[in-house]
Amino acid sequence: MKLFINEKVKKGTISPEIYGQFSEHLGRGIYGGLYVGENSDIPNENGMRTDVVEALKEIKVPVLRWPGGCFADEYHWMDGIGPKETRKKMVNTHWGGVTEDNSFGTHEFFELVRQLGCKTYINGNVGSGTVQEMSEWVEYMTFGGLSPMSELRKNNGHEEPWTIDYFGVGNENWGCGGNMRPQYYADLYRRFQTYIRIYNPEHPIKKICGGANVDDYDWTKKVLDTCFDHAIPEAHGFMDGLSLHYYVHPEGWEIKGSSTDFDRDVWYKTMSKALYMDELVTKHGKVMDTYDPEKKIGMIVDEWGGWYTAEPGTNPGFLYQQNTVRDALIAGITLNIFNQHCDRVKMACIAQMINVLQAMILTDGDQMVKTPTYHVFHQYRYHQGAELLDTQITDDSLIGPDEWRVPEVTESVSVDKDGVTTITLANLSADDAQDIEISFAEKKDLNVSEATVVTGDIHAHNTFEAPSEVIEEKFDAYQKTADGLKVTLPPASVTLLRI
Ligand code: AHR
Repeated sequence: MKLFINEKVKKGTISPEIYGQFSEHLGRGIYGGLYVGENSDIPNENGMRTDVVEALKEIKVPVLRWPGGCFADEYHWMDGIGPKETRKKMVNTHWGGVTEDNSFGTHEFFELVRQLGCKTYINGNVGSGTVQEMSEWVEYMTFGGLSPMSELRKNNGHEEPWTIDYFGVGNENWGCGGNMRPQYYADLYRRFQTYIRIYNPEHPIKKICGGANVDDYDWTKKVLDTCFDHAIPEAHGFMDGLSLHYYVHPEGWEIKGSSTDFDRDVWYKTMSKALYMDELVTKHGKVMDTYDPEKKIGMIVDEWGGWYTAEPGTNPGFLYQQNTVRDALIAGITLNIFNQHCDRVKMACIAQMINVLQAMILTDGDQMVKTPTYHVFHQYRYHQGAELLDTQITDDSLIGPDEWRVPEVTESVSVDKDGVTTITLANLSADDAQDIEISFAEKKDLNVSEATVVTGDIHAHNTFEAPSEVIEEKFDAYQKTADGLKVTLPPASVTLLRI
């Protein structure tokens, strides 16, 4: 197999936000996972777990989406401000029916993103909220002058306004966010977004319209039909982004399947379902192209990842699952797809950052463990803000059972501002190593400055007792050739080469 890289053809900038994260009020995603409160015995800074924040900084989280998810359309932000003892409690009806005490609210979110050093993506409530409520939240967060909401913020201890980078107008409004029809939601989008005022013109808020579920191209079309003639991105973005949600359920939505116990057929089924993201991005992108050929509106894949049956013995509503080498491959395949579509995909948020679905980190009390997915995000951080290069793999043979045939290797290649090339390769074969010859159009003398791999048995995963079963290891199975490099990719692996 050969990988040809044409370094003379740059295909666009890979938006750092493609490597975004999502954290919802769901299970132990926030409480226990990120936030333990100032009085916890677990080391923390202003309530945020120090171990988790330090680990997240290493993967360079570019943006964090909060507070949901389905939770967003039931969240009333005023319940989450002011003295914690008096904050109103609510039932988290979507996620386990547990009591939400609102001790993590707006101020805590901005403290978390301050510590992470990332951009902010707030998701507003359209399903059960009002225009006034959404508008006042934006005023509370971003208005620097004298107003009822800015006074309230100051009285709650924060003098200066914060910055919102992205604001989502509802979540999954075709489902948990109100079961709306696309035309109805689109009309609401037009109305709600009007009152997301830009108080700081130097830092306009980018507005995200709620997009489709999986292959609902009709939703994309009808929403754009209703909204697009008013889309004037120059005027602080009537619509800066349109979202898309897609999860990999290996055995389908009903059964989902175990996170750690699966056979080779299910492995290939999972690989094939991860690759399906390419078709979704391409086809939704084609619909968007008919309205927005200049690609001013970003595709925002703000929920993606593997979703399995919750771990036995845990609350099924908490969506807590293990994370194996299979998840490393879902991450490698999907991030390669987003990089390849960087002309349209401007943000993506894996679901979800801690303890929920395809997480970066799992915690139990004061223990934490990095997942295989974390290590892939660490490898791929070099792509953030780099220029995508044109590539071609000259082998189209497929592997896997008849129904779930997949290519052996997927790739993406970028070059950063210092001229360093980052190559990421996913070997989808459960059992076979793959030789690949890498060459450039002009560059010949290829010096590898860094090479790592995330690999292992397809079921391998990290536990609190054995946290290093799957890590990012030094990789040396490559050699220089007259034309470039010859690399041997281990089976079930994600490899990084820096040249
Ligand atoms: O990520 C879990 C849930 O999946 C989100 O709350 C919802 O938006 C989606 O259905």
